[in-house]
Amino acid sequence: MKVAIASDHGGIQIREEIKNLMNELNIPFEDFGCECSTSVDYPDYALPVAEKVAQGEFDRGILICGTGIGMSIAANKVKGIRCALVHDVYSAKLTRQHNDSNMLAMGERVIGPGLAREIAQTWLTSEFEGGRHENRIGKIAEYEGKHS
Ligand code: RB5
Repeated sequence: MKVAIASDHGGIQIREEIKNLMNELNIPFEDFGCECSTSVDYPDYALPVAEKVAQGEFDRGILICGTGIGMSIAANKVKGIRCALVHDVYSAKLTRQHNDSNMLAMGERVIGPGLAREIAQTWLTSEFEGGRHENRIGKIAEYEGKHS
């Protein structure tokens, strides 16, 4: 599994924490910024990373901003992306098992780095259950196919 990660200026600390985690878990990743000391626009980071995941260049993507909300909204505009905004470990597991989320968004102004690390570890190591959930995400893809 190869992961693309990015944040805006509001998510730098958690981005570093998750990069450390992926190094410890031997998960290959690429960091797409930001290299920011000033304010940047989160869509400039969310959209390119989401496109790389949608095109199969990366298997999964992780995005961090102040709340995670802007990043998740932007990523979910890209066809084929199922970006889950997660701030608890239970949802991290369930969004992999039930939604097969291929992107994770978190907010550094909402949770601390310790919880973010647990969420990311759970999300990175939980598997999609398929079965009835396959049919459900298939309906989302079908809608996306018709309307985009
Ligand atoms: C930046 O101030 C902030 O708006 C951004 O990090 C994010 O929270 C947007 O959803």
